[in-house]
Amino acid sequence: MIDLGPETGFEKFPAQVDWGDYSFFLVRTKQGYKLLSNVCPHHGGEIVDWGTCFMCPDHGWRFEPEDGECINGPNARMWSYEVTVRDGHLHADVPSD
Ligand code: FES
Repeated sequence: MIDLGPETGFEKFPAQVDWGDYSFFLVRTKQGYKLLSNVCPHHGGEIVDWGTCFMCPDHGWRFEPEDGECINGPNARMWSYEVTVRDGHLHADVPSD
């Protein structure tokens, strides 16, 4: 579990979150917050924010902007982690090692 900082520190979504060697996109959905990994589930390419969706430039897989489901490829989705709000801070359920 990692503390992403105060909820008020995030104003635009998706927000890039870096933690150690890893990067994520913090998204806000009707169900709450979620972290989506920028590591592509296909062959590990680097997923980028493509405006209306996420996209991996390596082979062009695109992902739905709220839950990371692949739009134009096989049944796959971005790795996602639950985020909860506690005491005004966002806490992400990311494995610590
Ligand atoms: S590695 Fe991302 S689409 Fe192939």
